[in-house]
Parts: sequence; C-alpha cells; structure tokens
Amino acid sequence: MDMTIRPRRLRGCDSLRHMVRETRMSPDSLIYPIFVDEQLTGRRAIDALEGQYHYGLDSVCGAVRECVEAGVGRCILFGLPAKKDASGSSAWDRKGVVQQAIRAIKKEFPDFYVITDVCMCEYTDHGHCGALCGHEVDNDKTLELLSRTALSHVEAGADMVAPSDMMDGRVAAIRAVLDKNGHQNTPIMSYSAKYASAFYGPFREAAGSAPSFGDRKGYQMDPHNRKEAVKECALDVEEGADILMVKPALSYLDIIRECSDAFDLPMCAYSVSGEYAMTKAAAAAGLIDEYRVMCESAVSIFRAGADILITYYAKELSQAMRKGDIG
Ligand code: PBG
Repeated sequence: MDMTIRPRRLRGCDSLRHMVRETRMSPDSLIYPIFVDEQLTGRRAIDALEGQYHYGLDSVCGAVRECVEAGVGRCILFGLPAKKDASGSSAWDRKGVVQQAIRAIKKEFPDFYVITDVCMCEYTDHGHCGALCGHEVDNDKTLELLSRTALSHVEAGADMVAPSDMMDGRVAAIRAVLDKNGHQNTPIMSYSAKYASAFYGPFREAAGSAPSFGDRKGYQMDPHNRKEAVKECALDVEEGADILMVKPALSYLDIIRECSDAFDLPMCAYSVSGEYAMTKAAAAAGLIDEYRVMCESAVSIFRAGADILITYYAKELSQAMRKGDIG
C-alpha cells in the first residue's frame, strides 16, 4: 500500500492520543448543583436523581466539602423554602433558605465560588417562574421580584447570580439593581437560551417546582428554534450578561456550537436532570457503561463549544479529568 497519510498513526497509544486531543477541559470548568431544603436536617436522597441529595442548612457544608475533595470549586444553589406564596416572597427574604445557605458556606469555605439560581418557581405556590396576571406570568412585574431576589443573594455573599426564569429584560433589570447597590463587580450568568424541555422532569421533583397548571411554554423557548437562541443571547449581551448559557445540553449541541461561535462571552451549558437520570437508568438496566457515557457526554458538550458545564456528575467528572481519562 502506498499511503503517506495515515490518521491511525496518531492513535497508537494513550500518551500520543492524550497529546493530540483537540478538546481540553479542567475541573475549573465544572459547576455542581446543590439543593438546600429549609425544613430538612441532615441530607435526604432525591429519588428521581440517584446519587443526589437535598441538604439541610446544617449539612450544606458537607456537600461543599465533598466538592472540594473531588476538586470542584464551584456550585450553583437551589432553594426549597419552608413557605410559598403567590408572589414567591421567600425568594428575596434576607433570612431565606438560599441566603442562609450562602452565609453558612462562605463562613466555612470563603474561597468556594457560590453561584445562585435566580427564579421564582421554587417559591411561588403556583410553581410558575414569576408573578401571575390571570393565568399568564406578568413579565414586567416579575422583573422587580427577580431583581430583589438577586440583590438579596449578593448581599448574603453570593459570588455570581444566574437568572433562569426567561423573562424579557431580566438581565438589564438585575444589572441595574446590583449596580445601584454597589455590586458593579458581581457577574451575571444568564440562562440565555433555555428551552421548554421535558428533560427538566426530575429537577421539578427535586426542587418541588412543577407548575400547578399549564406549562412554561409562554416563557421558555420552543425546541424547534435555533435563530431565536442567537437572538436571546444577543439581547443578554446587550443587557450586560457576563456569561451565556444554553440549556439543556445534549439535545442542544447545535445551539451551543452556534452561540459560542457567534459571541465572545464564556459559554456555559447545563446538562440537566433528565440527561443525568437517563444515564443512571440505562446504566442500572445494564445497557451502558455509566462511567464511559458520562465522560463521552461531557466531552461532546465541551467539543460543541461550551467553556463551562453545570452537571450532577461534576465530582465524578473532576476525578476523570484528574486521572486523564478525559481533558
Ligand atoms: C428553575 C430551573 C429549572 C432548572 C434549573 N432552574 C427548572 C425549570 O425551568 O423548570 C432545571 C434543571 C435541571 O433539570 O437539572 N426555573
């Protein structure tokens, strides 16, 4: 055979394969989601998300310690409040569950980077992501509630806020309130292209945030749309977002690619609860090798253009990167 070009030459051994990897990632790119339940002491397994837990305020530092030990230095916090009402007022309570969790974490782990999810759905008694006007979420009224919530998180010590509600104009509204209160340097990571997805199923059980009527299609994006994702990102850039996000991840790799090519901001992807639960279920049924599928899925998301990944597998992925299996 007269072949000068043989791609297999670069696949000969691990040492060579690892040297020529095109996609590089590190544990610094990983964010771990933590659920804090105001009414809980200790921790309680989340049935829908095998291996994940609700943490009480007394045990949230244990969750952080596990992250640190695994090499994960960043989390995103979700709160399950003791009280819900129509406007979701415990979301911005100075003594609310997320605010208390931030203080507890920062006291024990001042260098651990704490991001907070800013949304109303865990705090409203109807489970929608904002204040209602009839059966519709009132966009402009919700902006004020979100801004108040974001400010209360930052005042409690959050390093970054991440609005996930999909109201129009929320990045600008939050930016304005943070700036007015002296928090010009606190970044906003916007859930820019967040789709109305069935992959959030297990999360809604974990966060107790399923809407009591209707669905989220009036504010989250239609999975059929690609150009609209670019438009959402462009608006967030204009409004002052510091990091963009696409969510979910695995079914939206094209969107991650398109938006990371189109904008200069760091791009985050959220590999959501349904993606994790499917992997766990298939592994439990003996159909796939969980470790390898976890690794390959993460690599695919970074290869598509993500710089940052929020994932329930953050600790395991960090270890895989440390071992050199990926990254
Ligand atoms: C809050 C929020 C949701 C998720 C993150 N923030 C749920 C939703 O929009 O219904 C989903 C995360 C996951 O599924 O892992 N709005």
